[in-house]
Amino acid sequence: MKTYKICVIEGDGVGKEVIPETVQVLEELGNFQFIYEHAGYECFKKYGSAIPERTLKSAKECDAILFGAVTTPKPGELEKKLYKSPILTLRKELDLYANIRPISNFKDIDFIIIRENTEGLYSGREYYNPYTEEAIAERVISKKGCHRIIKFAFEYALKHHRKKVSCIHKANVLRITDGLFLKVFYELSEYYRRFNIIADDYLVDATAMYILKNPKMFDIIVTTNLFGDILSDEASGLLGGLGLAPSANIGNSYGLFEPVHGSAPDIAGKGVVNPLASILSGAMMLYYLGMKEESKILRNAVKSVLEKGHITPDLGGKLKTKEVTNKILEELNKII
Ligand code: IPM
Ligand code: MN
Repeated sequence: MKTYKICVIEGDGVGKEVIPETVQVLEELGNFQFIYEHAGYECFKKYGSAIPERTLKSAKECDAILFGAVTTPKPGELEKKLYKSPILTLRKELDLYANIRPISNFKDIDFIIIRENTEGLYSGREYYNPYTEEAIAERVISKKGCHRIIKFAFEYALKHHRKKVSCIHKANVLRITDGLFLKVFYELSEYYRRFNIIADDYLVDATAMYILKNPKMFDIIVTTNLFGDILSDEASGLLGGLGLAPSANIGNSYGLFEPVHGSAPDIAGKGVVNPLASILSGAMMLYYLGMKEESKILRNAVKSVLEKGHITPDLGGKLKTKEVTNKILEELNKII
């Protein structure tokens, strides 16, 4: 069996707790060489950079990247000026344009949010004009950016036997930017009609309501950066919170896998964080590396553990982080 090189960035807070659990689980399923690198706020305080060159270089040299979570300094803190978000830097530097966020409770809820990951309101083009006293953020929507993320969503639908792709936007107000996103969406949908993939669209505000009222109406959602960020946190509420929300950041050359949750300083160090979002991100990594069977085995192990109620406090259970991991390992040992 091939040995894969994985760049591991634990980051801050609960990132340091969920990643070791994920590594332990992955070791049961394949051969990996884990290469540990630093990033985040602690790294910033220690080395003067939140994402050192060495980390970026190593990320580029590995077959995939496993990322925990990092703490962002509070606004007003002096360091903020120099602080560069590690995850945004990685997404940009590695051109990880597709952020896949499955929303599944392994029962009735099962849809996927595909979020554009490199532009929109995250383009970093934000400034203050002291003469007009206006703070301005530019929302960059490029034709190329639209094309590649929408194509990615349709191809994903094809590959995973999904029936419908919904474009989520605010083109009634953002006529030019989201107008372009919607136009490219329907242009591309023409081609995918021959595969019987349905294409429709909804306004983002209405979508926020539909996600709560009728989540089953969605199959694949494709949307711009900030809308995808907000909707994916909202949708994870359907699963009991961020503890079950994994993600994959994919580009043409690299893949980075991370739980959607942050570093959660309030519960960090207590051993109670839910490791499943990170472990499910590990399953997405296995799929990306071509280890499809192993990925399925891991997802099934998570499903069994949930069915048996072996869960952490965020989902209403009493188990500690490590106890949940041990339950996963027990399930894996039954199969392999
Ligand atoms: C996420 C996070 C990031 C984002 C932050 C940490 C920059 O919220 O991955 O959803 O906004 O994309
Ligand atoms: Mn977010």
